[in-house]
Amino acid sequence: MANVPLFTAEDIRLDLGGREILKGISLSIEPGQVLGVIGPNGAGKTSLFEVLSGRHRPKSGRVTFKGQDITNLRLFERARLGIGRTYQTPVVPEDLTVGEVLKASRQAFRPMLTRHDAEWGMELVDLRVDEDMPASRLETMNRRKLLLSVLLMRRPTLLLLDEPAAGLINSEIDEIDHLIRLVSKEMNIAIIIVEHRIELLDTIADRVMVMDAGEQIAEGGLSDILNDPRVHAAYFDNHSEEHAA
Ligand SMILES: Nc1ncnc2c1ncn2[C@@H]1O[C@H](COP(=O)(O)OP(=O)(O)OP(=O)(O)O)[C@@H](O)[C@H]1O
Ligand SMILES: [Mg+2]
Repeated sequence: MANVPLFTAEDIRLDLGGREILKGISLSIEPGQVLGVIGPNGAGKTSLFEVLSGRHRPKSGRVTFKGQDITNLRLFERARLGIGRTYQTPVVPEDLTVGEVLKASRQAFRPMLTRHDAEWGMELVDLRVDEDMPASRLETMNRRKLLLSVLLMRRPTLLLLDEPAAGLINSEIDEIDHLIRLVSKEMNIAIIIVEHRIELLDTIADRVMVMDAGEQIAEGGLSDILNDPRVHAAYFDNHSEEHAA
C-alpha cells in the first residue's frame, strides 16, 4: 500500500461543445500536500476540477483515489469517498438560514453527521454569524466560510478549491491563507487550489502546475515555474493582452 498515491489524474482529455478543452493533464497528490494550479483565463482550470470532482466525464484518461479507479464515479459518490470541492462563485441556498444550510448538509451526508460536527466545522473556519441569519445575506467571506465548514465537517481527505480568495479583501485573504495551511498541515488534507494570486500560492503551495489553452505547460516549485520561459510567455503575455483589451 505504501506506494499507492492518494489521488491521481492521468492524461485527462475533455471535449466540450466540440472543442478540446483539456489536452492531456496529469497530476498526483499526497495527504497534507498543497498543489497550486495557475493559468490564464480560459486555460481549463475549472474544467479540470469538473473532471476531478466527477461533474464531467473525460473523453479519455483516468482518475484514481487510494488506488481505486474513480473515473466513472459521480460527484456525490466521490464526495462520500472524501473528496470535497468549492466553486469559483460561492453560491448558497438563497431561501435557507445558515442553520438550515448546516442541518441540510449534515443530513444529506452518509453516514449522517451530528450537530456537533457542524459546530466543529463552524468553529474551525471561525464563522461567527447567527444561525437564524438568511444565508443569502452573508457577505462573500462568510459565504466561503460556510461552504468550507460544510465540506470540513465531513472530514474530507482531498479538497479542490477553485479560487477561494476571489472577491476577498487582503485581510480576508490572510485568513483564508491561514485556514488552508491549518487544514493541510494539521488535518493532513490534500489540497488542489486554483489561484491567480502568486503571493498566496507562494506561502501555501508545495508545487504549482501551470495550464495554458488546455495544456499542462509546467509543474514544479514556484520559483522554477516563474523562471520558465514558456510559462512567462503563456501566462504573463496573455495577462498583458487582457489588461490591454
Ligand atoms: N460547458 C461548456 N461548454 C463549452 N465550452 C466550455 C464549457 N465550459 C467551459 N468551456 C470553455 O472551456 C475553456 C476553459 O474554461 P474554464 O472555465 O475551465 O477555464 P479557467 O481556466 O477556469 O478560466 P478562469 O480563470 O476564467 O476561471 C474556455 O474556453 C471555456 O469557454
Ligand atoms: Mg475557472
